[in-house]
Formats: sequence, C-alpha cells, structure tokens
Amino acid sequence: MRTEEKQRNHGMIEMTTRQADEITPAFVAEADELVSHYPVSKRSASLPLLHHWQNHFGFVDDSGVEWIAARLDLTPINILELVTFYPWFRREAAGKVIIRVCRTLACAMAGSYDVKEKFCEAVGLDPHSEHHGFGSAPPTTADGKFSVEFVECLASCGSAPVALIGDELVENIKPADVASLVKNLQ
Ligand code: FES
Repeated sequence: MRTEEKQRNHGMIEMTTRQADEITPAFVAEADELVSHYPVSKRSASLPLLHHWQNHFGFVDDSGVEWIAARLDLTPINILELVTFYPWFRREAAGKVIIRVCRTLACAMAGSYDVKEKFCEAVGLDPHSEHHGFGSAPPTTADGKFSVEFVECLASCGSAPVALIGDELVENIKPADVASLVKNLQ
C-alpha cells in the first residue's frame, strides 16, 4: 500500500503508514550495493540512497530519512538537510508524471515561460502556481496524474526550450506542441 500524506501540522508531516515498514529484501540488497561503491566514506552514499528511496516510494517520508541515516551511521538531520535542499527530492507525493520545464537563460529566451504555461493549462493546473521547494511536491493535479514545475538548466541548451517529461528529454518545444505532448501521456 502506498504511503499517503495525511496532513501538515506545524511543519511536521503526519503519515498513515511508514515507508520503512514496506521495505523488501530486494530493496535492502540494492541499497547495500549502492553503499559498497563508497568504501572510504559511507556518507557519500547519501544521495544515491535518497534517489533509490524516492524512485521506489515516490517521495521520502520521516521513516526514510531515519532509515537512510541509520544505514550510513549518520543522524537524521544529515539526510533531512539534503531532502530539503535539493528540489529534486520530495517529502510528499507528486504526480505520476512530472513535467519539468527548464527556465534557465537559453530556454527562457527561447520561450520556456510560455511553454510551461501551456503545460499547466493542458493538464489543468494554475499556470501561476509555484513550487515552494524545501521538500514540498510541485503543483499537482487533483487526480494525481501530473505535476508541472520549473527547473534549472537541463544541459541541452542548444535545443532550447526543453523539458523533462518523466524520464524523457523533449527538445525544441513550441507552445503549439504542448497539447499533443500531453495528450500522448494520457
Ligand atoms: S538553459 Fe535550458 S537546457 Fe540549458
């Protein structure tokens, strides 16, 4: 059963279940394999383990922070500070498909603000809603299908404007292309 966020209360997130209770032996084996790449300093495995966790569960709850910290002989704050610093990581669920539109210079000049607005309109999100970071999920449709957010340079400046749709990089996007791109995702 997927862990669900219940509510926010004074900055704490109350959960109905703990993700750590759903860990499988295969998950642990993969985590151990990742840690083995860093024999000098296990702490260096913090980001790989966070990616592993988020790829598996969709986001990182308190139990994930605690589990990763314990696995690396760290304290939970050492992991929590990474989750709240890097916008890639989340403490709450995002949409099934995340549309990340680049807003750095080349893409901005090539029209990525218009492209992002079109993506929001196509999936039914307020184009002016913002992603506040610090572990929060990007704006997400009520049905949980889509999230849309701005990101910084996706290292494809020569084919601006670009977006990462799920794991796929889409280049040279024109605002007029967006509706059909979203339709193909439905
Ligand atoms: S500025 Fe958008 S990919 Fe580099």
